Order: sequence, then structure tokens, then C-alpha cells
Amino acid sequence: ASAEKGGFDSFMEKEIFDQPAAVADTLLGRSDAFGRLTLDELRITPEELASVTKIVVLACGTSAYGGSVAKYAIENWCRIPVEVELSHEFRYRDPIVDSNTLVVSISQSGETMDTLMAVRYAKEQGAKTLSICNTNGSTIPRESDAVLYTHAGPEIAVASTKAFLAQITATYLLGLYLGQLRGNLFSGQIKDILADLGKIPAKIQDILDRAEDIKELARSMKDTESVLFLGRHVGYPVAMEGALKLKEIAYIHAEGFAAGELKHGPIALIEQDKPVFVVVPSPRGRDSLHSKVVSNIQEVRARGAKTLVIAEEGDESVREFAEFVFYVPETPVLLMPLLATVPLQLFACELATAKGLDVDQPRNLAKSVTVE
Ligand code: G6P
Repeated sequence: ASAEKGGFDSFMEKEIFDQPAAVADTLLGRSDAFGRLTLDELRITPEELASVTKIVVLACGTSAYGGSVAKYAIENWCRIPVEVELSHEFRYRDPIVDSNTLVVSISQSGETMDTLMAVRYAKEQGAKTLSICNTNGSTIPRESDAVLYTHAGPEIAVASTKAFLAQITATYLLGLYLGQLRGNLFSGQIKDILADLGKIPAKIQDILDRAEDIKELARSMKDTESVLFLGRHVGYPVAMEGALKLKEIAYIHAEGFAAGELKHGPIALIEQDKPVFVVVPSPRGRDSLHSKVVSNIQEVRARGAKTLVIAEEGDESVREFAEFVFYVPETPVLLMPLLATVPLQLFACELATAKGLDVDQPRNLAKSVTVE
């Protein structure tokens, strides 16, 4: 088993380190030399896709956070409304879907029963169904009208890591493809975004090369009982995913919040030495976004929080309010989740290891939940 883990202590850690390849392989062969998306494998005609008026993303767990990230990019690029819903909530509320709705399911395993049932229901209602899946020939892609596989390779650890980054990559390809088909994006824009996506694997590698910085922090926090995660915009689902990882494998109470929601409740939780991760958007993006998150750091810091910041390289403005800063390489705002998630995965993995837990087989959880 140790050989299968490639020298790492756990499959989870190995899979975190597989992420440059997971993203690169998911991008591979899906665009041509002119920067045009070539998703011919989709089994759904360009005309059908061009007529879509609404997208509904259905998923559970980590995959649902992948969908939440995708919403920002697809709405921005394609101007199509995107709803993201947990599969098990979707079916029971008489959702509004029709033949112009594209239901995108996201599932690493392709076997999650809740998601399968939601896809079947959507199909019965006449929606077009597209599966983003990591497992060839599994049930959800077989039952969907179209499939776009993620190429993360087999994921063994129960807590999902590389599949998540591959899912974000695949939904971004889908968003660019829709933008191309519908004429929302110019070819030059698509080419630029593809080029930025192409640089992501090396940037993830840069983070992995500095893994020890975040691991050291994790070890120092192994007796922590509760951690909060704040993020805004695409940093919000990243915060949710960071919290989920910690719950799943380290059995620590963790909650992710939209940073703007802080003052509407969660700030009451802040007390002396409370660890709070804050995912800070790029200062090069929408200006107000960055400064608002920086003021959120100040707000929790003023109330005694131990502020742990994930920020973009070169962002010096966060230093004076942060107990700890981990810098991720520069990238366009929408692509930041592909980088900012990585240190949070490493943090959870190392903290659970330091607690002596079996990170690959957390209690009470299954890799694939095939019951409703
Ligand atoms: C289980 C796993 C999670 C996973 C979720 C969805 O709960 O423990 O890691 O995110 O199922 O799985 P799927 O295979 O549909 O992506």
C-alpha cells in the first residue's frame, strides 16, 4: 500500500500532490491551437446547448462546492442564470425545469444515489442533462444526455481533493464552450482564459513546494476545537470546502461563512484566540471586494481572533492583520479557487495526521454514498 501511496503517508496527501496533473489532464485535448474549445465528446448538439436559458447544477458534498464556484464563472462568461442545488433538496420542491434547462450534475463517483435520483427526475421533467464525472462508465454519466469527464485519475481517499479541482476545471471548460457557442465571449477572451488555466498546474506545484509552511501551522493547531473560514465571491465556496475538509477528516467543528455575513451573526462566535481562516481575493480584481475582505480580517482580529490568511502573492496589505499568511500565485479572480483551496486541503490533512487519525478512512463516512 505504501508504494500505491507514492511515498506519501496517506492517499489523501498523495492526491493533493496529484492536483497539478489532475488539472492539466482535464484540460488536455479540449481546445485547439486557435484557442477554440473542442468538446465534441459531449453527445449534445451545439444547437441544443445554445438554446439553454437556465443551468441547474446538482451535486452533494465537495462536488456541490465545485458547482458553487462554477456559478460565478459561468454566469460571468455566459450571462446564463446558474442555480446550484444539493441533489437531495432538488427533487422535493417541485423545481422549475423544462427543455431549455441544462441540468449539470457533478459527481466524482458517478454513483451518488441522491444525485442520480435528481438527474432522473430532471430528465423526466424534460431537462437536458449533462454529467461532470470522474468515473468512466458509471451510472450518472450513462443515464445523462451528455458527459464531460474530469481526468483526475482514481480518487481513493474518502475526502475529495483532486476531483474537486478537476471539477472546477471541467465546469470552466463548459462555461467557455457555452460562451463560445452563444457568442458571449470573443475568441481572444477564450484564448486568454485558456492560457491562464494552462498556467494553473505549475502554480499549484508552487504551492505544494511550500506545503511545509502550512503543515507546520496545522501541527501547531492539533488541539484546536473549532475553526471558522471566511470568504467572499469565489472565496466563499473555497471557505466552505476548507471547513468541510476539517470536519470530515480531523473531526473538528468548522464552519465556512460568506465574509459579508459576518456582521449578521457569526461575529458573535469570535473570542480570544479563535482561529479564523480568511480567503482574500486578489487586490487586482474588483477593488471593493479586496478591501471589504481586508476589513473583515480587521473586524475579527480586533475581537481577538487568530487570523490565518490565504492571499495573493504580493498582497502586503494583509500582513499587519494576520497571525499567519500563506501566499498563492497571482491568477485571475475567477481562477483563484484552483489555488486557494490547496493550502486548506493540506492544513486539514496534516492536522488530522498530527491527531493520529486515519485520514483516508474517516469515521462514519463513505467514499460514495449509494443510498438515499
Ligand atoms: C460522499 C463523499 C464526499 C463527496 C460526496 C459526493 O459524501 O464522502 O467526499 O464529496 O459523497 O460524492 P460524488 O462522488 O457524487 O462527487
